[in-house]
Amino acid sequence: MLKIAVLVSGGGTNLQAIIDAQNAGGLGDARIELVVSNKDDAYALMRAKEAGIPSKVIRPKDFPDKDLYGAALARELKECGTGLVVLAGFLVVLPPVFIDEFAGKIINIHPSLIPSFCGEGFYGLKVHEAALSRGVKITGATVHFVDKGCDTGPIIMQKAVEVLEGDTPEVLQRRVMEQAEWVILPAAIKKLAEREEIR
Ligand code: GAR
Repeated sequence: MLKIAVLVSGGGTNLQAIIDAQNAGGLGDARIELVVSNKDDAYALMRAKEAGIPSKVIRPKDFPDKDLYGAALARELKECGTGLVVLAGFLVVLPPVFIDEFAGKIINIHPSLIPSFCGEGFYGLKVHEAALSRGVKITGATVHFVDKGCDTGPIIMQKAVEVLEGDTPEVLQRRVMEQAEWVILPAAIKKLAEREEIR
């Protein structure tokens, strides 16, 4: 079995998509073991509780520096046997010490077609605001491996979504979530669960 830890910061709709896929048998033999938030008030924690999944809050500000935070987070995930770390709307940049511990075993969902609208400062609604200002007609979402850069790791899966006349950032964000993110994140986890080298 591939044990997954899901890291969250906010609403947790992507976490919900993974939970729903798990309940519907759509994750292969992957299972969510732990949800970790960097914020006490993330609604994602409620979703974990409702699904009966253990959760923890580990906040960077409770550690003297980013490396000690990363080491503590890595220790917690190792303790529960994590084989895959899923960043699902997790807005903390992980320190190299954490990336080294889980090299090749961390994936992220990003709400654009990388390499467009990604990198430092591109997160959440800001991504959709930038896409609308540039006037692109197609956007989408990307699941990629996490390396030490910002949104630079190898791409695992992408799905395109149409931008429509009159879209606001919020409307576009919702469409990208529904049509792309909630589809490809569980699908990528299933794909990785079937691959020997990630176990
Ligand atoms: C999602 O749209 C996710 O792709 C994005 O934050 C949102 C979190 O929503 N992540 C990034 O922008 C990372 N750069 P959620 O908490 O409802 O899953």
